[in-house]
Amino acid sequence: MTTTTTSTPVTKAVGTAHTRIEGFDKVTGAARYAGDTPFAGLAHGWLAVSTVARGRIRSLETAPVLEMPGVLTVLHHENAPRVNTDYVGFMGPPDPTIAVFQHDRVPHQGWPVALVVAETPEQAREAAEALVVHYEEEPHDIGFSAGNPDAYAVNGHMPGVTEKGDKEAELAASAAVVDEEYTTPEEHHSMMEPHAATARWDEGRLEVVDSNQGTRWVADELAKLFSLDPASVRVRSEHIGGGFGSKGIRAHQVAATMAATVLQRPVRVVLTRRQMFSLTGYRSPTTQRVRLGADAEGRLRALEHESLSITSTMHEFVEPSAGAARVMYDAEAHHTANRVIRRDVPTPTFMRAPGEAPGSFALESALDELAEICGLDPIELRVRNEPERGPVSGMPFSDRNLLACFREGAARFGWADRDPRPGLRREGRWLIGTGTAAASFPAGSAPSTAAMTAEEDGTFTVRIAAADIGTGARTALTLVAADALEVAPERVRVRIGDSDFGPAMVAGGSMGTRSWAWAITLAAGELRERLALGTGIPPEGITVRSDTSEAVGTLAQRERHSFGAQFAEAAVDVTTGEVRVRRMLGIFSAGRIVNPLTARNQLVGGMVWGISMALHEEAVRDRATGGLYGADLANYHVASHADIARIEADWLADTDTEDPIGIKGVGEVGIVGAAAAVANAVWHATGVRHRSLPIRPDRVL
Ligand code: MOS
Repeated sequence: MTTTTTSTPVTKAVGTAHTRIEGFDKVTGAARYAGDTPFAGLAHGWLAVSTVARGRIRSLETAPVLEMPGVLTVLHHENAPRVNTDYVGFMGPPDPTIAVFQHDRVPHQGWPVALVVAETPEQAREAAEALVVHYEEEPHDIGFSAGNPDAYAVNGHMPGVTEKGDKEAELAASAAVVDEEYTTPEEHHSMMEPHAATARWDEGRLEVVDSNQGTRWVADELAKLFSLDPASVRVRSEHIGGGFGSKGIRAHQVAATMAATVLQRPVRVVLTRRQMFSLTGYRSPTTQRVRLGADAEGRLRALEHESLSITSTMHEFVEPSAGAARVMYDAEAHHTANRVIRRDVPTPTFMRAPGEAPGSFALESALDELAEICGLDPIELRVRNEPERGPVSGMPFSDRNLLACFREGAARFGWADRDPRPGLRREGRWLIGTGTAAASFPAGSAPSTAAMTAEEDGTFTVRIAAADIGTGARTALTLVAADALEVAPERVRVRIGDSDFGPAMVAGGSMGTRSWAWAITLAAGELRERLALGTGIPPEGITVRSDTSEAVGTLAQRERHSFGAQFAEAAVDVTTGEVRVRRMLGIFSAGRIVNPLTARNQLVGGMVWGISMALHEEAVRDRATGGLYGADLANYHVASHADIARIEADWLADTDTEDPIGIKGVGEVGIVGAAAAVANAVWHATGVRHRSLPIRPDRVL
């Protein structure tokens, strides 16, 4: 017996687990990444980068290199096409470090000094490594530590300084005070797929096949840099092996475009792992001072959080680590400051939960220290300091399920049985402890456009310049579109990763899925109205376009954030100093969860990164050379499979009823607080506070 599909009630796709639509293509190798998309007549560019940290290029010995097999050209500051950097792009004025080969100055080690282009990658690499460059070296300074007198407060992507009340008076009147310095090291994104781009001219249009977090973003920047009509630039980025904030406009797309222009051939530039460490941004090291003053009941009277980060001499990027305090806790006196110093280093950039990740390590560690001094359970301390409004903005929260996350997490983790005293639980060589920390991340939305077509065969095609950086965005958007159209997901195909699809938010700031879902929902509503007219679908289909520019502005002014409670159990080997995270649990409140399968991946991925941040990740700069020791994944340790034992993430229902989309984003909140939970667990195990990450064995012993 059969039933007609039209009378079957449509099951909601959003909220049900759905494997990645492109998953089969990815695991069978059918999915092409930027570095392996074939092109006829493809030439290969290899960057030569500076060995000095500051100075000038005196000369390049290009003649012998041009004689080498297969070499087509060597681009450098004397012969490369000129570009324009006098513009305001998506992220403000561009970082001048993307404008390669424009001058003879070298602002940091690993700076691109030439692009050698050859018939094969091997020929290009051999020639680039043979290129002799003479420098006029100047003394460099990469020094970074607390108390640098040239540090200054600056408005990065949030205000530099916020101030309320008299902190010294409140601290003096406090029954319990914490005043500590916390440090986090330089950290790198280290995604699996390196940055890679192929540029070519195709009938008067520049086409770039790339791996990035926003095709429209990169296309607009390339148009501005090369003074091209935006309509004559197309950037595609279909599959991306990780982004985390580093895959925007970078040297490789610009160098590839220059070479394709000069040679009038397709040119590919792939960065090496080592080059990624100097050319694709990183998380600045931070030194943070947190001062907390509380009354006898643990209620905060004073909260001061000051953060110092580093930036290049070329461009100002601030790691706003003091920002977390502006949302998490209030106090009579509330002071936060993000400061920066300029040094002869590459420009840092956004890296998963920029600000919140290192900031939450300091703030949530300090809260744990305050709980210890007050003799309070760390969760109870947070209960007593739950603000009713944004501590700095004064705005109400759209919803704030932080305490519900702690309650649920505590029950599932077994927190109630915890003996608060540190250093008491021992299993052979191992000391055991548990720790907790809070998490939050802003939930924003940005204008996006989408096109939606009702096809003659009853299927639907969505076109949106979204990016799936490995998050499962393509799948999530399919579910969103299916529900908005009230059809099964199988009838919807979602095309993404093409700047020709129009303006759209990038995959960043945990805002991608939310922003794109809004545009898709708007388009679906209009398309359904058109279809309801019953005029039939012509062969070319019926297409509607949406633009959320107005809609996103209509949302009521609220503090909109996702929240979470992180729990970790650490075992510390007292003979070797090794720290193992035996289990970890994160309970989040992150709005509507579109696809439980990939949302869990995102949250667990963030938590894994938090363990990695707590225990492994550290890029060490050599004062003598200005470069990194071991800029590769052999020396830059990231958590691997064996470092992760039991780990689970789950979520609570969100209660924000005013939000038409209701998605808050799960890209970043998972890492927030994760390192602090581990560090607090290490304290509980050993009785020793670790205020500098990573908690290496030599620091434990
Ligand atoms: Mo993310 S650091 O907003 O890509």
